[in-house]
Amino acid sequence: MPQDRAAAFVADRLLLFGATGDLARRMLLPSLCALNADGLLDKNLRIVGTARSQLSDAEYRDLAREALEQHLPADRRGSMDAFLGRLSYQPLDATTLEGFEELADRIGRRGGDDASGGLAIFLSTAPALFEPTIRGLRHSGLTEGNVRIGLEKPLGTDLASSEEINDAVASAFEESAIFRIDHYLGKETVQNLLALRFANIMFEPLWNAAHIDHVQITVAETVGLEGRVGFYDGTGALRDMVQNHMLQLLALVAMEPPIHFDATAIRDEKVKVLRALRQVAAGQTVRGQYTAGAIEGQAVPGYDDELEGESDTETFIALKAHVDNWRWKGVPFYLRTGKRLPERVTEIVVQFRCVPHSIFEGDHNPKAGARLQPNRLVIGIQPEENIQLCLMAKMPGLDRDGIRLRSVPLDIAMPDAFTGTHRRIAYERLLLDLIEGDQTLFVRRDEVEAQWAWVDAIRALWNAESIRLKNYTAGSWGPSAAIALAERDGVSWHE
Ligand code: BG6
Repeated sequence: MPQDRAAAFVADRLLLFGATGDLARRMLLPSLCALNADGLLDKNLRIVGTARSQLSDAEYRDLAREALEQHLPADRRGSMDAFLGRLSYQPLDATTLEGFEELADRIGRRGGDDASGGLAIFLSTAPALFEPTIRGLRHSGLTEGNVRIGLEKPLGTDLASSEEINDAVASAFEESAIFRIDHYLGKETVQNLLALRFANIMFEPLWNAAHIDHVQITVAETVGLEGRVGFYDGTGALRDMVQNHMLQLLALVAMEPPIHFDATAIRDEKVKVLRALRQVAAGQTVRGQYTAGAIEGQAVPGYDDELEGESDTETFIALKAHVDNWRWKGVPFYLRTGKRLPERVTEIVVQFRCVPHSIFEGDHNPKAGARLQPNRLVIGIQPEENIQLCLMAKMPGLDRDGIRLRSVPLDIAMPDAFTGTHRRIAYERLLLDLIEGDQTLFVRRDEVEAQWAWVDAIRALWNAESIRLKNYTAGSWGPSAAIALAERDGVSWHE
């Protein structure tokens, strides 16, 4: 067993803060129910939800049932009654200490009573509630004994506020008990990146500046504000998507081989990449905001219209990053993400270099007109989970006018390769790891802080240089400046 799991206990109580919120309804309750249906939850596990609303247990179960019917396919629900039977609810105003003792009684756990299992806490609340919640947990003894805590993003809005949150959590929990969530790490294909890189012999020898020309990471969404006006407008694409999900993807692509598949080894390697990120220079970022347009043939309003006011928040960002280390010397990483783009797609493109010498073209061989294209590896994360390797192949024919070549894809559609398995919600994996105590897919404090330091520098640059927003029509691939950002280097975004 890897070292990090050795000290693990399996929690027999799960305490959900923000239990009536959007994430709980759309993701957490469905994930827990699906785990229950697959027999993956310990039979003794009890789940206590808490939030401000005054609900009885029965009312909370009704809310949960409705959420499951809405967000979990019927064939994954199993016995819903059995799952709902695990749930109870305790109303709480987390801003005051009152109520925390009652909560501890409700959980049946005062002063670290760990006769069986232990407690896993999941905070899915506004970051402003993190500190008071931790104070309340301490006050009622809920931080003692076998306890661990999962924290949902956003963990602050910049390095300073993230440090404050991290300090507050650290005052009550050891780092080994803190599980910072980046739900992208719970996605199967993101984990598959590690398998692809480190379980195959053919990629690693080529995975460096000598053989890779550049890397592209795209996270495109078709949705707009989705009713999250208050949160999103104070955040923007850089902090909502790049600071966490995209930098985690970049770190997994760029990291050195870890010595084990365990939390310490993997996070040690990721943080080295995050610390090696070069400060982005002026001219290497593009900020955009969508105006009215159409997505899949449907007219959609502009950001200002959705917001009902003007705003300087970016809904799109493209940037060129560099990892300043030996392996990645001179290799650009192009990142782009945005709302209201033409399709929902998350993918990583690794563009290899051309072969050093082509035997198929040149003066010595006048008939040969075959131009070589460099190999390309496209890792599709969503909506399709697939891996495509573009290789040069000879086109069939007798070649009287010279050999003809074409790039052809070698395609692996993961669902076809693994029929009989179902696609899981990222939170299924993360909640189970939280309950069982495996930190491998959670973000360590030094990683989060390195991510913030890099992102803060970009925001400082935007302020210092008064970098203005560029508009793009909803349903397009962002402002034309984003295309120019790559094309200046002779690179086209993969579409
Ligand atoms: C969240 C962001 O972290 O990730 C949202 O706050 C975004 O703005 C979401 O829509 C995207 O997640 P996914 O799993 O749908 O790609």
